[in-house]
Amino acid sequence: MTITHPGSTFSVPAAKSGGCPFDPPPAYQRARDEQPVTRVTLWDGSQCWLVTRHQDIREALRDRRLSSEADRPGFPFITPNRRALASDRRGNTSFIRMDDPEHARLRKMLTPDFMIKKTETLRPRIQEIVDDFLDRMIAKGAPADLVADFALPIPSLVICLLLGVDYADHEFFQERSRIMLHNNTTPEQVAEARDDLLDYLGDLAAAKRARPDDSIIGKLAARPELSHDEVASMGLLLLIAGHETTANMTALGTLALLRNPGQLAALRDDPALAPSAVEELLRYLTIVQSGVARVAKDDLEIGGETVRAGEGVLFMISAANRDPEAFPWGDDLDITQDARRHLAFGFGVHQCLGQPLARVELQVALATLVRRLPGLRLAIPFEDVRFRTDMAIYGVHELPVAW
Ligand code: HEM
Repeated sequence: MTITHPGSTFSVPAAKSGGCPFDPPPAYQRARDEQPVTRVTLWDGSQCWLVTRHQDIREALRDRRLSSEADRPGFPFITPNRRALASDRRGNTSFIRMDDPEHARLRKMLTPDFMIKKTETLRPRIQEIVDDFLDRMIAKGAPADLVADFALPIPSLVICLLLGVDYADHEFFQERSRIMLHNNTTPEQVAEARDDLLDYLGDLAAAKRARPDDSIIGKLAARPELSHDEVASMGLLLLIAGHETTANMTALGTLALLRNPGQLAALRDDPALAPSAVEELLRYLTIVQSGVARVAKDDLEIGGETVRAGEGVLFMISAANRDPEAFPWGDDLDITQDARRHLAFGFGVHQCLGQPLARVELQVALATLVRRLPGLRLAIPFEDVRFRTDMAIYGVHELPVAW
């Protein structure tokens, strides 16, 4: 895809052509430095605003004049598949695509399960799960695929335990989730995969309504005020967000550490650095590279530009997380820096609900991996690693490693 100079219109998604695969597309970085609030053209010919500076994004994502409702005219979809995912066959959406008060009503039902205190109680169990998958990978022997053997199963099993989904069904939901997040599938395939998962979770909710249990889906199903569809769609959001994101951060984070051996050694020598290493990796890699989308309900100003009601806005958190104004070490990876102001989990009322869980999973997985496998290395040339430039969530398709 051709990118013209910002200032004139350019197209999104911007191609990740050449350059460092850990960096956001150069066009977004250029836009941030030269025209941080600019008009861009989307695949369907429609136009929206692209916002790339850290400060502008933090301010705007707190502004209630911006809506997350994807059925409002002007909502910017970065691909046709995103549009297909906006609502299901019955026209329902999940709360990530709702505004308050409806959004808050549903999100509040889940907050007790994702509080920091609650997720900290899971740490010993997550450590066991991490050690168990690592034992199995070591027993199988090198080379191993770190994605299939370690990064993907850990958050998949954890989210299954929390939701009350049978982990034996992991191939079923991982495959459908892959179809939903792939850019090269058709909108029809995406809708079919989503509907399969909704049917599956709807059946599970019905079973749990009859025999309530203490799992998240069990507790939601026991609420008379929630419809069947609402429980299924909340379960779907949690199931997909709960495993795809953390899995990709684990694998891509490992690769970034392998490419920065000084940083890897620092984490291995001082495991107390794990929390700050995870924040810095979240900032540096920003796996939600397609950004966060909103549409204006009323006129508002962003970074000195007037955004009119009905206009779409894309917040490129990947470019903002490299903004030298917020992070003076910008394009370097430095796990000793304080990166906690990053926007990798979004910002405002929709800021990631699962972030405490993702943090514990990533801290345990990465610290354990570098401690137990001091000789960890790539088993193929770096140039041969297949990056997920074709997926909604960035990462690597496989990561062959030896130790
Ligand atoms: C929302 C990123 C892990 C559940 C978000 C948003 C981002 C994000 C950027 C904001 C979307 C928006 O504003 O439109 C990430 C990253 C993760 C991660 C980078 C891991 C490294 C998780 C996990 C879960 C989860 C483990 C669940 C167990 C959610 C939910 C929302 C959300 C439910 C919607 C919140 C709302 O609309 O109020 N996430 N996420 N995420 N995430 Fe995560």
